[in-house]
Amino acid sequence: MLITHERTADQRLFLTKTGQTSNRDTTWKLVNRIKGWTEQIFPKWMHRRHRHIWERKWANPEFRPLWKTDQPPRELVDAIESGWFPKDQRVIDIGCGNGEVSRWLAGQGLAVLGLDYSTEAIKNCRRLSAGRPNAPAFEFSDLCQKDLRLEPAFSLIDRGCFHRIVRKLRPIFAQNIARITVENGHFLLIAGTFQDPRFLPYGGIRSERQLREHVEEIFGNYFTIKRADTTVIKAVPGQEGKPAVAFWMVRKSAWSNLANAER
Ligand SMILES: C[S@@+](CC[C@H](N)C(=O)[O-])C[C@H]1O[C@@H](n2cnc3c(N)ncnc32)[C@H](O)[C@@H]1O
Repeated sequence: MLITHERTADQRLFLTKTGQTSNRDTTWKLVNRIKGWTEQIFPKWMHRRHRHIWERKWANPEFRPLWKTDQPPRELVDAIESGWFPKDQRVIDIGCGNGEVSRWLAGQGLAVLGLDYSTEAIKNCRRLSAGRPNAPAFEFSDLCQKDLRLEPAFSLIDRGCFHRIVRKLRPIFAQNIARITVENGHFLLIAGTFQDPRFLPYGGIRSERQLREHVEEIFGNYFTIKRADTTVIKAVPGQEGKPAVAFWMVRKSAWSNLANAER
């Protein structure tokens, strides 16, 4: 069922390119607008609903979305090779899904903690990583829960989690990310623009310019964005990747004063 949904999205790309789906486009625009309003009015309910959907997806062994891949994003490879993510520092994988990124990082010798709010995803991660040398640790954690307490790390990566968070809860998400990053620590965020007909069913920011402004607005209090590069979230060989931006951020030190003032 879920696979069918992903494949239908693919077919829709083809049909949209041939100009035959304008009715569908209009329907999806309307559906997304309604989703947007519902998120505005009932953000916590929508958050629970998203979580329930992820639980169902991760419980399905056949779940193979377009973005799911064992290959690390090239930005992550750069971060390791350049030392931007030092090998002797812990790294947290935000919204780790089935843990592919976490396992790749652990394979590079880093100490890794993968976090996800889907208990099914965490179960899969632990099963898939059992018995490996330097296996990552995985924990259930909801990044939208207020005042999340976890041991901060120097390096954090988010591929594909932030861009699906309910808009109204994103400030809490950003504050939690800042809380679990040490001062001057590094956060690599890879977020999609949804600027592609394959992703019509998903509400979200649709232009790169808007995404850049949005990320600055949400994370700017806590992080300095050092670089923001156009990229793709690429999974299936031979298929176009999902348009995205990679944000290279450094945690501000002044933020600790701001956080203390808020408490
Ligand atoms: C698109 S998947 C990306 C998975 C993984 N990062 C990858 O690249 O393969 C997004 C993941 O974020 C998780 N997620 C979404 N909202 C979350 C939240 N508030 N707290 C923790 N995890 C969350 C979902 O359960 C899902 O596993």
